[in-house]
Amino acid sequence: MDTYEPGTDLRLEMEQLIGQLQRSLSDVIRSTDERIALPPGAAAALEGFYRSLPETGCGAAAALEELQRLNELAGGNTAGPRCYHFVIGGSTPAALGADLLASAYDAVTYTWILSPVGVEMERQALDWLKELLGLPASWSGVMVTGASMANFVGLAAARQWWGEQQGFDVSETGLAGLPQVPVLTSGFVHASTLKVLALQGIGRGSVQRFCRDDFGRVDLEGFRQGLERLEGKPALVVVNAGEVNAGEFDPVGDMIDLARAHNCWVHVDGAFGLFAAVSPRTAQLVEGAARADSATVDGHKWLNVPYDSGYAFVRDYGLLARAFRYSADYLPDENDARPTYGAIGPESSRRARSFAVWATLKAYGREGHRRIVEHCLDIAQHFAAVVRATPGLELMNDPKLNIVSFRYNPGGLADAELDELNRRLGQAVLDDGRFLVGTSKMGARTIFRPAFSNWRTRNEDVEALAEVVVELGRKLAS
Ligand SMILES: Cc1ncc(COP(=O)(O)O)c(C=O)c1O
Repeated sequence: MDTYEPGTDLRLEMEQLIGQLQRSLSDVIRSTDERIALPPGAAAALEGFYRSLPETGCGAAAALEELQRLNELAGGNTAGPRCYHFVIGGSTPAALGADLLASAYDAVTYTWILSPVGVEMERQALDWLKELLGLPASWSGVMVTGASMANFVGLAAARQWWGEQQGFDVSETGLAGLPQVPVLTSGFVHASTLKVLALQGIGRGSVQRFCRDDFGRVDLEGFRQGLERLEGKPALVVVNAGEVNAGEFDPVGDMIDLARAHNCWVHVDGAFGLFAAVSPRTAQLVEGAARADSATVDGHKWLNVPYDSGYAFVRDYGLLARAFRYSADYLPDENDARPTYGAIGPESSRRARSFAVWATLKAYGREGHRRIVEHCLDIAQHFAAVVRATPGLELMNDPKLNIVSFRYNPGGLADAELDELNRRLGQAVLDDGRFLVGTSKMGARTIFRPAFSNWRTRNEDVEALAEVVVELGRKLAS
């Protein structure tokens, strides 16, 4: 007879696990500042990792111990103070605690009835984010996994609008037989926007980039002429508020004003850049964003909530409801006064990301989040000063926000040689593991582009980054 009693066994195991979790969670959280950014030898540690499915499991305690052991050997410390790759924030205490609770409760925010509090927290937290970022209170919003999906939502609303301008509901008919959807932007357009346009049947090839230099800064006059060539036909405009190589901005207000004079939907990709609005020191960079039709904001970047968390804001709720219609006899109606977020966004079932967002905004308010943003602005300025003062390093931008572009330049090398040296040095820095930081291109030049978005980063961390780059650079160049 089968003696397996999952209910009883698993209840007992869960009870025993609580003590283990108390210890391991406090160890992990307490060591966040000290753990190396990327353990060297991660690939070797994972050799032999793949096995066939165990017939008899080892139990939760052993599985979690193994998970933690492996993560110490091969996990990136993306929550830590020395991770500047891509654009990655940390987690505030309130956000981390709330996110752990979201998992413990297994809270589901597809629709109100599954978690009235999770859904109302989403509505409240989105309202607070609009206040924090200076977006109109009347806009609708929805939480998604990150900025890629927020771009997906904004551009899905845009696509729906574009079809309706011509008498079509493209969520019903698709785009077949319709003309190409024009998309106008600058050279700062993010790769995720292109991915989204590909997925939505608009196509990467529909994008017209108006650039005045090889870095991608917008050619406003070319953009204006591009708009005029449309002769009133509807089009999509993507304004990039914060690009990833140097933290530069499209001229947000100017592009929106030009687009407004034509028949355009304006989407602002402000994944991290819209946080400029939080500080009076940088708010002018995103002035005018409220005159757009939709906007993308990331939470796991500069809001410092755990992965994954992003927010799409759209002027017109009806477009979202039509673009993402999700109806069946057993499902709630998208027009119910009690929200069904699963019917106005790409995910149907969805975890309670709202817990962490609500908790961090509740815990620290506008003032606390302004301090986090300004702390990162200060770190960027400090690091830029360190780069200026360090022989062998060359500053490549005048940082306006939280990204500093620089390269290793020992002198006496031509640009092409420096590009190759910095490309190899980028790999050497990652292999070394003390810092997680990436290289990219600024025009033709290869650069390092640390992005500072984590409240944990201290001056001494970025000072050490300069030392490590010079140390490894010298080794490579010798
Ligand atoms: C401007 C911008 N848009 C979109 C994205 C994509 O964000 P995610 O990785 O959260 O989907 C990023 C990521 O760095 C970004 O910087």
